[in-house]
Amino acid sequence: MSGLILEEIDKNFGSVIAVQDVSLHLPHGRFVCFLGPSGCGKTTLLRLIAGLEKPSRGSIMLDGEVITHQPAHQRNFGMVFQSLALFPHLTVGENIAYSLRVRKVGKTARRQRIEELLNLVRLSGFTDRHISQLSGGQRQRVAMARALAIEPRLFLLDEPLSALDAKLREDMQVELRMLQQRLKVTTVLVTHDQREAMTMSDLVVVMGTDNRVHQVGSPLEIYRNPLDTFVADFIGTSNLLEGFFSGSQKITIGDRRLIVEDLPENLSPGTPVTVSVRPEDIHVLPGIEEGDNRLPGQVSFIRDVGSSVEVYLDCAGLQVISQSTPKGRPAVKQGEEATAFLPAAACAVLRS
Ligand SMILES: Nc1ncnc2c1ncn2[C@@H]1O[C@H](COP(=O)(O)OP(=O)(O)OP(=O)(O)O)[C@@H](O)[C@H]1O
Ligand SMILES: [Mg+2]
Repeated sequence: MSGLILEEIDKNFGSVIAVQDVSLHLPHGRFVCFLGPSGCGKTTLLRLIAGLEKPSRGSIMLDGEVITHQPAHQRNFGMVFQSLALFPHLTVGENIAYSLRVRKVGKTARRQRIEELLNLVRLSGFTDRHISQLSGGQRQRVAMARALAIEPRLFLLDEPLSALDAKLREDMQVELRMLQQRLKVTTVLVTHDQREAMTMSDLVVVMGTDNRVHQVGSPLEIYRNPLDTFVADFIGTSNLLEGFFSGSQKITIGDRRLIVEDLPENLSPGTPVTVSVRPEDIHVLPGIEEGDNRLPGQVSFIRDVGSSVEVYLDCAGLQVISQSTPKGRPAVKQGEEATAFLPAAACAVLRS
């Protein structure tokens, strides 16, 4: 099979488990994000792919070739670290030339390649500038150009944008994604920022605090169909309602009943479940309405951030948050009675 394959990878540092039982297939030419909270093993997994760490168990294959024990310098992967690791006393050109010189590229070819690369990252004319004379975003681009200089088989980036301010960071996300699409190089980006992962990737690998992979899928799949409560909670905002399965398409939450469309396989009546509903899928109806998929309560807070309106409902002690556009704003005020309506198709049922 082509692409990068990880099979049953474990990595321990003494008694610390950094990565546990990871099996993945990353197809060619895709943009993949490793996403998860601090300490979940993202950097370790990237370093294992790069050959900077050896797995305690399992194997790594690239295009059918086993590379588990191949030294990092023979893999021909480009890597950008969070610290960027540029040489501050050298110029932009010298920094990029370094990786070309290591690969014995001649002087004329080197010069031409540096020009090409700087053009690619929109830094033409910066060859003789010192790193210390560049802005954060420009340094970022030099680090990328240097990693791309060797035409890597894999482009690996560990939180390269985390030091940038919010606006520049968003610009660089778009730039990096467009660069990757032009070069069609298989790219793995580590991030703990779910928005970054969702906006950039073809494929998101969600890792949890147990240092395992919880779900792999397109951003939309992961958002719409989280496989467990960790993913539902970590990706975006979700209302998580605890209850139990009461047969056919029914879930009981307290004294209320939800009719749902999809259920996990082999669920027996009485099994505890968590229902995940996205705030934008919840309708807030004025007044008290009884019936299936309705949670009557009271408006406890309204948060208006301009581009969207969030209504917080207290439904018999259960907090439910809804979100709408300013146009779709529910006709309710703080302190008034209101009912949260949860459409069947919007209720994702997860095993608790
Ligand atoms: N060289 C090492 N020696 C001992 N423990 C390590 C080493 N490297 C990582 N760890 C541990 O392995 C676990 C995973 O670390 P890792 O750096 O991969 O996490 P991460 O997901 O990249 O976190 P962050 O988002 O904070 O960068 C952590 O508990 C960490 O303390
Ligand atoms: Mg890390």
